[in-house]
Amino acid sequence: MISPDFSSMNPPLNRSSNDQPELANEVSDSQTNLPLRIAHFSDIHLLIPNHRCSLSDYLSKKGWGRINLHCLGRAYRFRFALPILQQLRKHMEKMAVNHIVFSGDAGTIGIPGECEAVANLLGIGKENRDNNATLIPGLAVPGNHDRYTWREEKSQEFEQAFSCWQKGERIDNHRYPFAQKVGNYWLIAVNSARPNPIPFDARGEIDSAQFDRLIQLCSQLNDGIRILVTHYPLRRPNGQLEGYFRRLRHLDQVMRVLPSLNISLWLHGHIHHSFFLDKHPDLPLITIGSGSVTQEYRWSYHHYLFHDQHMTMERYHYDPVISDFVLQETIPFRLPV
Ligand SMILES: [Fe+2]
Ligand SMILES: [Fe+2]
Repeated sequence: MISPDFSSMNPPLNRSSNDQPELANEVSDSQTNLPLRIAHFSDIHLLIPNHRCSLSDYLSKKGWGRINLHCLGRAYRFRFALPILQQLRKHMEKMAVNHIVFSGDAGTIGIPGECEAVANLLGIGKENRDNNATLIPGLAVPGNHDRYTWREEKSQEFEQAFSCWQKGERIDNHRYPFAQKVGNYWLIAVNSARPNPIPFDARGEIDSAQFDRLIQLCSQLNDGIRILVTHYPLRRPNGQLEGYFRRLRHLDQVMRVLPSLNISLWLHGHIHHSFFLDKHPDLPLITIGSGSVTQEYRWSYHHYLFHDQHMTMERYHYDPVISDFVLQETIPFRLPV
């Protein structure tokens, strides 16, 4: 069993200067002039061991979460989260990733410090943030496990831990949505996670106020292909809706308004399998779920390479024999505009 050390400072996750192969009509990062390579990972579910729950925790949803963790095998499936996160950092640096997308579920059952521990392991911990270290830019949105109960909603621990990946253009001072211009693209972050008091209820929601701001924000963005990032998917890998207690609320409304927002791609987490879903008559845009980066045997994450309207998705799978990520699949596709 690995003895975790979440508190020691991890060096900053810096931009790399590695050489990458040239691609036709490639889009470059404006600051580094390296080919734009965005990493996308999700559903880390780091568990801080030996945390003592209070009686009120046991009487809340966290009591159910403990049963799920220790009696139904969830803790076992994520037992390698710590070394995999450490390897994820090294792999992203080696591959000269110049922007990061994290689509949520840093934590597990809302134990204080879960999100900060993940941020520290990724090199964007408090000390690096406070010291104004040059950190690799990114975008992060919370998942339902980062809003496990109303305590996490109120404390905004996710937003504090990932504050350096929450910079962008907003409507007034509202946290969500926000938009980042990366190369010729807009990454639009939407919070679709909210607490649900019933233990088996894992539904998400983009509340109406945030949805109105999303419409307003999209009407203000200048030219650029738009990519929405949120925790919840629109569809499962087979194109069907998620199960009722795992899906986004008010999905009909989302689907009705989506075409008017000119969004070409929906990046998400929540489903722990990595998958690419092309647009079809019931789905007006491409959706990509990066799967869980740390769940045993499913452990994978994505890179996206950009060439004008064309993108390439690379799926990297963790190989426990060599303790590193290896390229498993490449999917080139054209973004609908
Ligand atoms: Fe998850
Ligand atoms: Fe989730």
